[in-house]
Amino acid sequence: MDRSSMRKSVQKLTMYYNPKVGDALRMDTNTNVLGSNPAAAEYLKHLDLNLNGYPNTYSDGLRTELARLYGLKMENFVAGNGSDEILNTIYTTFTEPGQVCTIPVPSYSLYSYFVDLASGTLREVELDEEFQLDVDEMAGKGAANKGILIMPSPNNPTGNCFRQKDIESILAKHEGIVILDEAYSEYARQTMVSKVDEFDNLIVCKTFSKAYAMANLRVGYCATNLKVADMLNSVKVPYSLNSVSEGAAIAALKDQDFVKRSVDMVSEQRPKLFAKLKELGFEPYPSDSNFILAKSPIDHVKMIEGLKKRNVLIRDFGSKRRTENCVRMTIGTEELNKIMTDAIEDVLREERR
Ligand SMILES: Cc1ncc(COP(=O)(O)O)c(C=O)c1O
Repeated sequence: MDRSSMRKSVQKLTMYYNPKVGDALRMDTNTNVLGSNPAAAEYLKHLDLNLNGYPNTYSDGLRTELARLYGLKMENFVAGNGSDEILNTIYTTFTEPGQVCTIPVPSYSLYSYFVDLASGTLREVELDEEFQLDVDEMAGKGAANKGILIMPSPNNPTGNCFRQKDIESILAKHEGIVILDEAYSEYARQTMVSKVDEFDNLIVCKTFSKAYAMANLRVGYCATNLKVADMLNSVKVPYSLNSVSEGAAIAALKDQDFVKRSVDMVSEQRPKLFAKLKELGFEPYPSDSNFILAKSPIDHVKMIEGLKKRNVLIRDFGSKRRTENCVRMTIGTEELNKIMTDAIEDVLREERR
């Protein structure tokens, strides 16, 4: 067997980011630096589980709790194994082979993967100089106006939110499905979840992997109008969210204090890390999220490798279009940021010797 035996649209796919981690300080995945979600951890401690039964088919318990939180109906929600599964389900549900799917550049690297899995045709639209949306280009014309369009706000890897008025204009102009990926929206203190019933074509995706500090349990969901939610649940793999993760997510939703504390910590540390990076010669981009993208003062590979040697992982975006020589790092606590920036100073010293 060689790669020509694979379906054409997936032949060029390669394996995803999978670094050797050991005991390194991980500032490369934008997870919550305060550690495991405490309510979820407490729930897991007291778990008495029947391993022999299937979980609820569509995670009704979690969807009920989400409905309560946002003032919507349980039937507005689709829950799954990370928001990656939800994204995959959306592309599978609405993409005919060859159909044009629009993504902004730069944005989350897995979007093109989901388009390939669904055998769609990728259409990339450049963000402007400030990493904001070109509304007319994004909304597209003809076939491009009908396929799935996705916008992550805050955007990954750039960190900024898109303007609310641009998001709303795109929603008005684009006929096809519009996904608003709000993986990091807690940090920006804004969401469009409660507005999904006002739109025919809006799907808002969210995750428990970031502000809720539960990436290891793989829980994601989307909110949308009742008709679209029914379509997505009909396509999604049944039982894909296990009951351990579902129960932990329900417990986590009931502890909004932890999320607030996490977001407050990031809001406090963000300007400090931004200023420190500038002082070190980086060119950081403004962020509304829990990470910062910055142009490195030395070659990006030397920066990444130098930090790796010092047991600190940050993410390399330096070889990609629009983020040339850039690296992305998670915003830590004061203490973790000091460890990271001390290591950066050490790398710079070594490089300038
Ligand atoms: C913009 C964006 N969307 C979605 C995801 C996927 O999150 P999950 O862990 O819920 O699959 C990520 C993860 O890094 C992300 O950055």
